Amino acid sequence: MKRAEIFILLAAVMSTTFYHEDSMNDLDTFIDGLPKAELHMHLEGSLEPSLLLTLARRNGVELAWDSEDAIRAAYEFDNLQSFLELYWAGCRVLRHEQDFYEMTRAYLERVRQDNVLHAELMLSPQNFITRDIAIETVMDGVLRAMDDAKAETGISSGLIIVIQRQRPEKDAFAVLGAVAPWADRVDAFGLGGPEVQFPPSGFVDFFRACHDAGFRTVIHAGEEGPASYVREAVELLHADRIDHGNACLDDPDLVRILVERQIPLTLCPLSNLRLKVIPSTEAHPLRRLIEQGVKVTINSDDPSYFGGYVNDNYKACCHALGLDVVELAQIARNSFSAAFLPEDSKSHYLGLIDAYLTGSNCA
Ligand code: ADE
Ligand code: ZN
Repeated sequence: MKRAEIFILLAAVMSTTFYHEDSMNDLDTFIDGLPKAELHMHLEGSLEPSLLLTLARRNGVELAWDSEDAIRAAYEFDNLQSFLELYWAGCRVLRHEQDFYEMTRAYLERVRQDNVLHAELMLSPQNFITRDIAIETVMDGVLRAMDDAKAETGISSGLIIVIQRQRPEKDAFAVLGAVAPWADRVDAFGLGGPEVQFPPSGFVDFFRACHDAGFRTVIHAGEEGPASYVREAVELLHADRIDHGNACLDDPDLVRILVERQIPLTLCPLSNLRLKVIPSTEAHPLRRLIEQGVKVTINSDDPSYFGGYVNDNYKACCHALGLDVVELAQIARNSFSAAFLPEDSKSHYLGLIDAYLTGSNCA
């Protein structure tokens, strides 16, 4: 069935049955069952307080907090930097392969409940190799968890290696070399960390080398930084996706380029709220981006720290910005079409969305 036909059918169904009242509960249920991919999440940011405490005790790592409540109470952030300091402190509890395994398994288990069928996991080896943890320890634990999750629950996942932009470009090259033995398991390289004062232009050579080696690239830009950083990510680094990208709206010509080239943005609304990038969810640029034709996706970024997994982010946007089922379904479609998946897999997942829209959940 063609997309236009599905939307016409869906509109008819909405006006008669399941969505007659179009209540928020109905939309929440719709989001829960909607097949989706998550494209922007940091594994280290998925470490829930309970696992953080367990690993700290197991590994003899001293933390500033001694209970889950105390940890949660500390998750009050003024900006990206204040979050990153806690996130880096949390990384200290990860020491052994089994720790990386449990963190990755826990996230993949949790998002099955959100009907995430494919997830692209971000991992920053610099958080660990700078503390003398062997790259094998990190990669073997994460990859084993991805394989076991696929075998046991069916969830598919990919891996994105994120470089910390506050460190020199030569260190990024060292990471590229360090993960070379797992090159066939790495989908992309990304740029993350504190944004302001560390523009993408500092990593032109590195991301050229990544492209030359056959990797895709994703760049955090326009989260706290200006539209010019998004432009650099597009024009100088030739990014395949922009992580966040909110600030692009300040540069209409850049928005035109994003639309023309259909460069996806991986938006993270609850992250933006908690890091005070936006004053309220109502102020999130998602709707304005959709109206201008930008290809947007909804993601969780660091779900443990920001108090919400991917469906919480869909629901927050749906409620605050008044998204309807057609818009929600389009965002889920974008999540698969923007994924680093082969075309036949994308078609398979898009077919599952079509089936969901026309199936028993809607009729
Ligand atoms: N690393 C983890 N979360 C991040 C974020 N929101 N921005 C930049 N780097 C990050
Ligand atoms: Zn991020």
